[in-house]
Amino acid sequence: MSRSADLDALFEAAKAAFDNAYAPYSRFKVGAAVRTPDGRIFAGCNVENAAYPVGNCAEPSAIAAMVLAGGRRIAEICVVGAGEKLCTPCGGCRQRIREFADESTLVHVAGPEGLRRTFTLGELLPESFGPEHLSA
Ligand code: THU
Repeated sequence: MSRSADLDALFEAAKAAFDNAYAPYSRFKVGAAVRTPDGRIFAGCNVENAAYPVGNCAEPSAIAAMVLAGGRRIAEICVVGAGEKLCTPCGGCRQRIREFADESTLVHVAGPEGLRRTFTLGELLPESFGPEHLSA
């Protein structure tokens, strides 16, 4: 499959998750999809809660689905959010992505209409701390 077909499928998975997001309090839906190096795609959405602080972001939902299926590496990730500004992953989510990715991993940021911009994880989380820092 071509690179752009791969990216289309990743975006479509994130967009479908965005459509099903549960965000009755912020009204800010987010969908995320990760692709593993073997080509599998896992998606997740934000799930808010009446007890506001215990709501979940979209990215950890997608990561949890990947981990449950045995995935341990993010080849690339796409995040979909509406609004004028880019829906870049929040700080906590950048670190959660980092656990399974490195500075060259592509982070695609999209709106419901399609891709808007691509960053490397290193751009979003420079000089980051990851699992390899714990191995002597
Ligand atoms: N949100 C995400 O799902 N991912 C992010 O990286 C940024 C924020 C969600 C959390 C909350 O449900 C809503 O967006 C507004 O902050």
